[in-house]
Order: sequence, then C-alpha cells, then structure tokens
Amino acid sequence: MVKIGLLGCGTIGSGVVELLGRESCHRNGLSIEKILVRNLSKHNNRPYGCKLTNSFEDILKSDIDIVVEVMGGIDPAYFYVKQSLLKGRHVVTANKDLIAKFGNELQKIARQNGVRLLFEASVGGGIPIIKPLSESLAANSISEIRGIVNGTTNFILSRMGSSGMAYEAALKEAQQSGYAEANPESDVMGFDSARKLAILSSIAFRCSVDYEDIYIEGINNVSADDISLAKYLGYSIKLLALSRRSEKGIMARVAPVLLKNTDPLAGVADVYNSIIVKGDAVGDVLFFGQGAGKLPTASAVVGDIFDIVRHSLGNRNKECFDAEELLSEKVDMEGCSADFFIRIKPRSRVEAMNKIAGLFERFEFVFPDRAKLQKPVDPNQIVFIAYNIPEVDIDEKIKSLKAADAVDSVLSVLRIEGDD
Ligand code: HSE
Repeated sequence: MVKIGLLGCGTIGSGVVELLGRESCHRNGLSIEKILVRNLSKHNNRPYGCKLTNSFEDILKSDIDIVVEVMGGIDPAYFYVKQSLLKGRHVVTANKDLIAKFGNELQKIARQNGVRLLFEASVGGGIPIIKPLSESLAANSISEIRGIVNGTTNFILSRMGSSGMAYEAALKEAQQSGYAEANPESDVMGFDSARKLAILSSIAFRCSVDYEDIYIEGINNVSADDISLAKYLGYSIKLLALSRRSEKGIMARVAPVLLKNTDPLAGVADVYNSIIVKGDAVGDVLFFGQGAGKLPTASAVVGDIFDIVRHSLGNRNKECFDAEELLSEKVDMEGCSADFFIRIKPRSRVEAMNKIAGLFERFEFVFPDRAKLQKPVDPNQIVFIAYNIPEVDIDEKIKSLKAADAVDSVLSVLRIEGDD
C-alpha cells in the first residue's frame, strides 16, 4: 500500500482525489491516507473516503509515503513541503510559484534526505514537459524554448479573437472554469508565464534562471482592434514565453506577440498550451495539451505519483510493459466505426450511384466545384463520403462495390479522422 497525504482539496486537489479513485490507482496500491484542508466544515458533505484534518502536524506524524501539495502559493506551502522532505517524505507538487522561487533549495533538501520532489504539473497543466525535458531530451543541448504556457490568457485572447468577446467576460469565464489564479493579475500581467518559463529554462539550460530576471509584458494593453487587425494581416496575437541560449548568454521574455498563422503556436486556442523545444540533436519537438483545469493538472500530479511508486518505492526499475500489470484485453477493431472517403470509376454512372445507395446507409456524394480545385480531377469518377461504417463491414462493402457490373474500379478508400 502506498499512502498519500494530500495538502489542499480545491480544484486540483479534488481532481487528484477523483483520479486516485480509479481502478488503475487501486491496483497499484495508491490510497489517500489524509487530506489537509483549511476549513473542515466546508468539506463536511464530500465523501472522500479518507480522513480530513486541518493540522499539518497530523499529516507529518502519519505513516505517509508521498505528500502531494496542491494548495498553491508560497505560504504555508513552502514550509509544508520543506518539512515533508526533511522528514523523508517524497513530495509531488503542482505549485509553480514555489518551484520558481524555491525549487533549487527544495531539490537540494530532497537529495540530502534521499527522497524525490516532482513537479510535472507546475508547467503546462496536463502536458508532460518537465520529464521529457529533463530525461528524454537529456542528450541535447537546448537552445530555445518557445511556448504558450498560460491557459487563462490564451483563453481570453482566443475568445476575443474568435467571438469578439469582451476582455472582462472572457476573464470571468476562465475564472468560472477554474483556470485562472486566485488573483488573475498573475495570469494577465504575465507573471504566471514567467514563473513557468523560469522553471523550463532552468531545466533546459541547466542553470538557475530567476523569474525576476525575465522581461515581462502582460496582455492588459492588447485591444480588440489589435486582435482584428492582426487577424486581417494573417497573424494571431499570443502571450509568448520565449527563452534562448546563445554564446551571449540567456535571454528570457514573456510578451504578447503577433504570430504568423502558419506558426504551429498560432493555432493553439482556448485553454490549450503548447511548447516547442529546440535541441541540437533532435531538432524541434512540439508539446501540446490542456494547460490548466482540474483533471488535466491532476493527471500530471498522479503521473508523478506513479513515477515515485515505480522508481523509488521498492518497485525500482519497473518497466512500462510490466508483465504482472498488463491487462488481458485483446486488440481488435470490433465495435469501431469510421467515416470513409471513397472514389470509384463507374462503368454506368446512375447504376453505380444506385449500388452505393443500396450498400451504405448514410452517405453523401461530393460534387467538387472545379474552380476551387487545386488541380482538375477526372470527371469520370464518383466521389462520396460514407458515414459511421463498422470497421468489420468495410471490406465486404468495398468487395461488393468492386464486383458490381456498374463499377469499373475502386480508386480509393480513406478514413476520415478528426472533429466534425
Ligand atoms: N492560471 C494558470 C493558467 C493555471 O491559466 O495557466 C495553470 O497553471
């Protein structure tokens, strides 16, 4: 059994409770022993299935393996995390303020006490970025990090751009969705992005980047006119966190910028975050995902818990494909359906269309507008989209099409993927 002490049970904390209640967590023996909350009476009706306490001492003297800090802020999180490490507890935290300011000191204490301090959730919400940067890309010399690392500001700028929503209304929506900081000034003035950039840059450049040295501009001066003119010119406005390392040293900046619409970061909308890391061996690597919110952030927190369980708590070197843990589910296409783009060359156009109508329940013929085509297509073909075809049926249907007298040949059968 791996005993967890949770510090805080707000938006992220309740997400962690939810994910730790999943079967895979039970199977790995993860269980929440105690939850520290500020106000016990506020949590009376929530059935967490474990003890609540308002005393940190109570957590510290319990038999706990991993302390998970999701309270945010510096005080008292700094004290709690430090004490936990000194007491020999592994710590997982989502707290970027804490890591940006005291990360070095706390990591040192963790090392001295033979425990680990993991903080994947502190940058990019649910996106795995800390571990890839510090482990998977370790062979590289990283020269640049470019990213959108604040969900709230990206949400605001996206809403203002796509629906003409006013700044205040977009901010309110972000707050209601649990994305914004308690004091959203930290988001909109760029401080939150700067802290995250400091954490990423410190890991990538293997040096201590202080967020107070980062040049910061917020989005508070970006107007609706800026956004619509940028759009007209083929740009999107994004709050970009950028750091570069060259012979001259390290530059780090957070500021709203116009990004050409062809830039991969320009299409990153709403609460999504994306980070591009440039390594000398690997080239550019793009990370993308939800950068804030209850379950995405909790996903990163629980990922760190698994890391500790697998590599530091007696399960050392447990591999991803551990035979004991593999599920017995088989892989097959049964039950799956897809939409298909199909082109055929008919012998008799009308009869072939009738054949298609008989074979497919939901379908649509495509009659391309020649003027809009990049290249003229052979007019002697039938193009159609067949919807929701069970994967187990598609081969038979295509065989039947091919066998029909009215059909000369089937030219292509391609699946259509992505949101409608
Ligand atoms: N306020 C932060 C954001 C939360 O909007 O990105 C996640 O760190």
